[in-house]
Amino acid sequence: MLRPKAQAIDLGGKPDLKDPDLYMRDDHHEVFRKLRAQEPVYWNPEADASGFWGITRYADIEAISKNPKLFSSAKANGGHRIFNENDIDGNETDASMISMDPPEHAGYRRMVTPGFVPKRITGMEDRIRERVTRLLDNLPKTGEAEFISAVAAALPIEVLAELFGVPQSDGAKLFEWSNATVGEDDPELRVSDEYMRQCVLEMAGYAAGLWQQRLEKPGEDLISMLAHSKPGGEAMNFPTYIGTFILLVVAGNETTRNSISGGLLALSQNPQERQKLLDDPSLIPSAVQEIVRWVSPVLHMRRTATADTEIRGQRIRKGDKVVMWYASANRDEEAFDDPYRFDVTRYTKPDVPMQLGFGAGQHFCLGSRLAELQLKVLFEELLKRFPDIHVSGPVRRLRSNFISGIKEMPVRYTPER
Ligand code: HEM
Repeated sequence: MLRPKAQAIDLGGKPDLKDPDLYMRDDHHEVFRKLRAQEPVYWNPEADASGFWGITRYADIEAISKNPKLFSSAKANGGHRIFNENDIDGNETDASMISMDPPEHAGYRRMVTPGFVPKRITGMEDRIRERVTRLLDNLPKTGEAEFISAVAAALPIEVLAELFGVPQSDGAKLFEWSNATVGEDDPELRVSDEYMRQCVLEMAGYAAGLWQQRLEKPGEDLISMLAHSKPGGEAMNFPTYIGTFILLVVAGNETTRNSISGGLLALSQNPQERQKLLDDPSLIPSAVQEIVRWVSPVLHMRRTATADTEIRGQRIRKGDKVVMWYASANRDEEAFDDPYRFDVTRYTKPDVPMQLGFGAGQHFCLGSRLAELQLKVLFEELLKRFPDIHVSGPVRRLRSNFISGIKEMPVRYTPER
């Protein structure tokens, strides 16, 4: 299952939204600002494919997400990424729920929903706090650390291992596979096609072993839910299981990791906002929403038009790719007051629209509550123990048009006595 690398294209001065360097340089917000004002439904040609419509306004993205009949996520129509999932050579994974439409989608989503219901998530809070406490205990006493490996990546991986019911020592493998899966455009992560193939094979072998174990001895974990559920009246086929496993590995950690790191970066760049959280920690849940709005860890999701239609008067043809840029919707001046201001109190005010970082409609992020809980506990403990923690040097960003990610981020803090 080798995802194609994004090929940039020279559009004669117009932006290429597919270009991973745009996001690695963190230049995309200015590009999106202009597009929202001038061409909110923007035709982006592609070097190696048919081209796509780039959608940048909040209201349009919300409406598209809530109309799966007209805007499909189904793998048979191309799926949820800019490249066509059904074109990938040797794709041994079948679609997971994120690349399905109703009514099929609901049956697959229901399989793992018990793992994400509020009671279950709330019940994880004490264990998440213990994990955070241990990670912070282990921060070097020198007062300097690399925050991604020490904290931001470590926490979601530990939580994912708990959800899967696997030993914490398996976390390193899950981390590597997840990086390789989303890192198709980052040469540091997809070292070679051969390496990527090996990762997929290892991941499939690992997932197969778990499936067998849980069939024989079910537990309360997500893998047991998958192995024992019957979405269409029958057990899930193996390729769909592998696709779902990979979805959970990636969705469960890349996004949360990058919200944690992007959140700390935003607090470092806006010390007055950090001070508000220090003075009043009850603002942290509002800050969490603002962090996800600000970071938009998932840059886009794609849909495919199932019939001729129009968006803002622009004709869209059946079969056209429609790419929803959440990173733009979350800075839309028609939706948010002062959208370029990072404001930890924003979500204490009345009538503020939901941030779209978790999407909208029937694919709305299944793990949103779990991600919010991890962010809340992390920032509560971090700011309590290291009130002056701040980013102390340049950050290294992921080269990707899909995940807004940070690979390395040095921090400095006054160590505890
Ligand atoms: C800040 C963290 C997160 C962000 C920003 C995020 C973002 C998103 C977005 C934008 C979608 C919508 C896809 C679409 O409309 O096509 C989505 C779906 C999904 N997310 Fe998350 N996610 C996060 C954390 C998590 C976590 C922690 C998990 C699980 C452990 C998770 C599991 C899923 C799953 C399974 C779906 C597919 C739902 C469906 O197709 O019905 N996510 N996420």
